[in-house]
Amino acid sequence: MIKVGIIGVGTVGTSVAQILKDNADVISARAGQDIEVKSGVVKNLNKDRGLDIVITDNVDDVLNDSEIDIVVELMGGVEEAFGVVKKALKSGKAVVTANKALLAYHRYELQDIAGTIAFEYEAAVAGGIPIITALRDGLSANHIESIVGIMNGTCNYMMTKMANEGVAYDDILQEAQDLGYAEADPSFDVGGFDAAHKLLILASIAYGIDAKPEDILIEGIQDVSSEDVAFAKEFGYVIKLLTIAKKDGSEVELRVHACLIKQDEMIAKIDGVMNAISVVGDKVGETLYYGPGAGGDATASAVVANIIDIARSGKSTPMLGFDKPMEGTLTLKPSAEIKSKYYLRINVSDKTGVLAKITKIFEIHNISVETMLQKSTSDISANLLISTHIAKESNIQDMISELEKLDFVNSKPVMIRIV
Ligand code: HSE
Repeated sequence: MIKVGIIGVGTVGTSVAQILKDNADVISARAGQDIEVKSGVVKNLNKDRGLDIVITDNVDDVLNDSEIDIVVELMGGVEEAFGVVKKALKSGKAVVTANKALLAYHRYELQDIAGTIAFEYEAAVAGGIPIITALRDGLSANHIESIVGIMNGTCNYMMTKMANEGVAYDDILQEAQDLGYAEADPSFDVGGFDAAHKLLILASIAYGIDAKPEDILIEGIQDVSSEDVAFAKEFGYVIKLLTIAKKDGSEVELRVHACLIKQDEMIAKIDGVMNAISVVGDKVGETLYYGPGAGGDATASAVVANIIDIARSGKSTPMLGFDKPMEGTLTLKPSAEIKSKYYLRINVSDKTGVLAKITKIFEIHNISVETMLQKSTSDISANLLISTHIAKESNIQDMISELEKLDFVNSKPVMIRIV
């Protein structure tokens, strides 16, 4: 019999306990032994969780309980959770977590502390989709060429509604929060940080890259307007928040930002709160994973899978997938060096000579225009909708800074990368 303690019995924790009970027959057969939740830790003892487990508000009741084999950390946050997980590992307990923020900052330290003790985190990336297992085990024969995903259901729901129903950004955020997918602080979703935490975890497994959120390009969807969504649609594109890891020689680029994607691309068709991840390996080719990236039962399904794995073997594979560093280690490409095609919307005064001056600035910054369209916004102003050929990120950023200073440019130009 394996005994589990859950730290943070909220939506996911309750589902973990419930699944272990509801599916005890198949779980016990697969694990080779029974698994039982002995106790759970909560902040508020007055709320009834409807579970027949011991509930406490003292984390040490679980950490110091010698009968508990596996600690499931679902409390969230970074430093407090780090302290709790370290303590659990140091007392020899296996750990399962769904905490992507914790891993985005402390995964390598945790790997060292865990050593041969099992430490699993399938639910930390894309909830119910078994992407960690796929990448770490199923694709371990491959050099990973790219990972491109929709890994934030809240943003994807919002972008889908904006595209399909023309709903404005502000009206839809509350709706997305009501669905229960959003982080406690929704700026983690719309600012791209939640997706970035997931990307950093995958980048470690795919490439052995030890980067922190501060090291990579992270933008959210806050600046995507209904206007841009409508223009994108008119030209056969959709706008999505994408999570991208791409190997380029000995460098890897890691980025999270809104993207224009051709409507007929597979990833463009992922709507609503669902997640999808495309992983390209040099031997396998493209593989695609789709499913619920959040929600109590979906996330708990991944947590329980980790518990079963630990009950079977008691030992983790190398936590981040590498038993020793790879020769010719890959390095992180500086964000300024990233290359992409770009969409720009520049609202200008509609006067003689403006276009010539704008295109001159493009030339100075070595940016080649692919297509251009002018749409009037009033008698005296117009939107210039421009797509570029492949350009360097630093050149685009410098050009935007120069453009926004011009007196005939009415507002900060909008830039969205095209993939
Ligand atoms: N807040 C996340 C999302 C779910 O909206 O996808 C958990 O990672």
